[in-house]
Amino acid sequence: MRAVCCDAVVLDQTVVEENICLMKVLWTDMEHAPHAGQFFTLRAWGHDEEPFLSRPISVHSWDPENHELQFLYQVKGHGTEKLAKLKAGDHFQVTGPMGNGFDTATLAKEYNRILVVGGGIGTAPLYQTVRELAAAGNAPDVCFGFTDVPYETAKYKGLAKSLKVATDSGKAGVKGFVTQLYDPKDYDLILLCGPTPMMKNAANGAVAAGVKCLCSLEAKMACGIGACLGCTCKTTREQAVSICKDGPVFDAKEVLVHG
Ligand code: FES
Repeated sequence: MRAVCCDAVVLDQTVVEENICLMKVLWTDMEHAPHAGQFFTLRAWGHDEEPFLSRPISVHSWDPENHELQFLYQVKGHGTEKLAKLKAGDHFQVTGPMGNGFDTATLAKEYNRILVVGGGIGTAPLYQTVRELAAAGNAPDVCFGFTDVPYETAKYKGLAKSLKVATDSGKAGVKGFVTQLYDPKDYDLILLCGPTPMMKNAANGAVAAGVKCLCSLEAKMACGIGACLGCTCKTTREQAVSICKDGPVFDAKEVLVHG
């Protein structure tokens, strides 16, 4: 499915934690309905204005009945600062959906015990992932790590099979790393998204335990369609791959463990 570029309307925007915003957007194009792990590029400024590039933001949730698309993102730099200023009723440019995402319907059937692991703003795409897995009849366990204060975790109650949290500061949950919250051997599949050091740790642990592991990677993006080679990633494949077009979801064996 090709991405589409639309003028979209903001339904609501709230600050859920310091520098973390949740934006709700009206998306009526059902032919371009997204699924978990895909992303859109967002632009709330003119094409002749800085920053030059639109901002790739993953889908936090998609509600087809209400045509509501949610983006949970970190305000970090000029682009996201401009996005954070948008209010209900404002129009801006949204392009997508892009990327492969997680094939949750197949994963829910093929794997029995599923664990979803996220770190910081890397938890953002995992909400839709958990929603889709639960809807497919295989609610996963969830382990999240944050630096200090967890955000947007209450919504997993009743959706995930279990939810555990670790924080660096010890302010909430277990003090330490998210990888201390689980044993990879207890699972058949681990889905990951978060900062690179955490992903490397978690991916290495899964691969060493012989557990299938899929990682959603992040990159700075320009075209978003595999044309500019701005987001190429080193993998075990012979040819170069683009995170935007071939990913952002890759098998851990192909990427991080070779890092
Ligand atoms: Fe251009 Fe990925 S952003 S190839």
